Amino acid sequence: MTAPMPKQDKAPQSQPKSQPKSMKDITALCKRRGFIFPASEIYGGLNGFWDFGPLGVELKNNLRDYWWRKMVTTPPIGPDGQPVQIVGVDSAIIQNPQAWVASGHVGGFSDPMVDCRETKLRYRADHIVVLIPKDGDENWIATADDDPETIEKRIKKVGKGKSVANFEQKLLTELDPSDYAKILGPDTKEVGSLTEPKDFNLMFETRVGALATSDAKAYLRPETAQGIFLNFKNVVDTARVKMPFGIAQIGKAFRNEVTPRNYIYRSREFEQMEMEWFCHEDEAKKWFDFWINTRKEFWLECGLKEESLTIRPHDQDELSHYAKNGHGTVDVEFKFPFTDPGFGELEGIAHRSNFDLTQHQEHSKQKLEYLDPERNNEKYIPHVIEPAAGLTRGVLALISDAYTVDPDRPSGVFLDFKPSIAPKKAAILPLTAKEDHVPLATDLYLELREQYNVDLDIKQNIGKRYARQDEIGTPFCFTIDNDTIEDKTITVRHRNSMKQERIKMDEALSFMDDAMRGN
Ligand code: GAP
Repeated sequence: MTAPMPKQDKAPQSQPKSQPKSMKDITALCKRRGFIFPASEIYGGLNGFWDFGPLGVELKNNLRDYWWRKMVTTPPIGPDGQPVQIVGVDSAIIQNPQAWVASGHVGGFSDPMVDCRETKLRYRADHIVVLIPKDGDENWIATADDDPETIEKRIKKVGKGKSVANFEQKLLTELDPSDYAKILGPDTKEVGSLTEPKDFNLMFETRVGALATSDAKAYLRPETAQGIFLNFKNVVDTARVKMPFGIAQIGKAFRNEVTPRNYIYRSREFEQMEMEWFCHEDEAKKWFDFWINTRKEFWLECGLKEESLTIRPHDQDELSHYAKNGHGTVDVEFKFPFTDPGFGELEGIAHRSNFDLTQHQEHSKQKLEYLDPERNNEKYIPHVIEPAAGLTRGVLALISDAYTVDPDRPSGVFLDFKPSIAPKKAAILPLTAKEDHVPLATDLYLELREQYNVDLDIKQNIGKRYARQDEIGTPFCFTIDNDTIEDKTITVRHRNSMKQERIKMDEALSFMDDAMRGN
């Protein structure tokens, strides 16, 4: 077994970035409208933990359900024109700790970390940017990350009148530790305070049962994948699957990230949508290519724009321990506001070879081979192609991509969600809170809510209510006014164009059906 190496996001690019969408504005909208809140906010929050509010949970559930539908309920058509077979599981978050020894996580799921002797702060070594003066000045300046704003501020403070252009930017991990003595740490006044990088295991430990003995130690899972491998034999024995096939799982994962950052992009508790595709080694390349294309297509179908996505193969030195042998790993990357004009990982598609099942077979002493009747009863440990997506990170991608600045409307912004992904599909708005508008609006609401997640919003002037629906990305508003009383027609207001049309009230449901079909 190769020594396990941490699975890391690609080190951030250090060129200056233009930021057409501001993360500050996006996070403010998410807070203001109830998408995402800091966890335990009334106690000052907890770094790396977030709560999803009423609209955030709807959006997250829509993405989760769409993934499940596209992967498990109606999985894609394979390269041979036949639908592929994928079944689901929902495994425990806490498993026998031996499973994490076998998977390589206990020994090696770590990030390199440096401590600051002066401030006692801790940083991820591969995120620290060192600014080296081009004029040969020996005072090097470090920042905790590659955010251009942070770099500029730090240079302004300690850069002796120099500007960004006067520095060469390198990652700390690219430097020799003998150079550390020259470096002014990200939050220090004196140079030479950073320690050499040490590995820090990212797994959260817990205890099972009342006994405080060492054999009560267990871990919160750092990935959902292992719960799938642990159930491989159960699924083969019970689910009438035959090679090739997939097992899918959606659920929480926990990583004690050294530097959680960029909002919910890198948090300590998050959700994953993972599928392990088991196949014969000879077919691994075919399926690897198939899943790369299929997964990119999925994100486009969710409404992400083509120009916001890219496919990036991992460099050899980035590969996780399980992906070292085989066809490697390819990321579907998204242009997040804080990576723009670059991209950041949204999903990884890895050829995990037969690493995990081999490890579990060795450690558990249980046979995990597959007897393949289609290959003259050949016995083998299947290879695995794994599309591993972040659910919470996917929510951030959906919100960032949908965020559209529009100075021509009162809200100044709207969320351009695809109707099927939008948290609310329509809002029913009585023009006034007058008695004759409200009962009709309530009737329509009661009818539509049987099929769709819709809002009945009665109070405030209509402009403010439209603005609210624009900000939460509701594609349609149905307005009930005096004409509705007369002729039973309602106004439909379209979110993106703000155009209005008149339809019959009893056609609202079929209007929604048409609008949602394929959307
Ligand atoms: N089973 C393989 C695996 O876990 P990964 O690339 O470490 O691979 C898969 O994780 C996906 O999970 C990533 O592409 C990302 O979307 C999401 N993810 C990983 N770490 C995360 C974190 N700290 N916060 C939010 N999402 C994360």
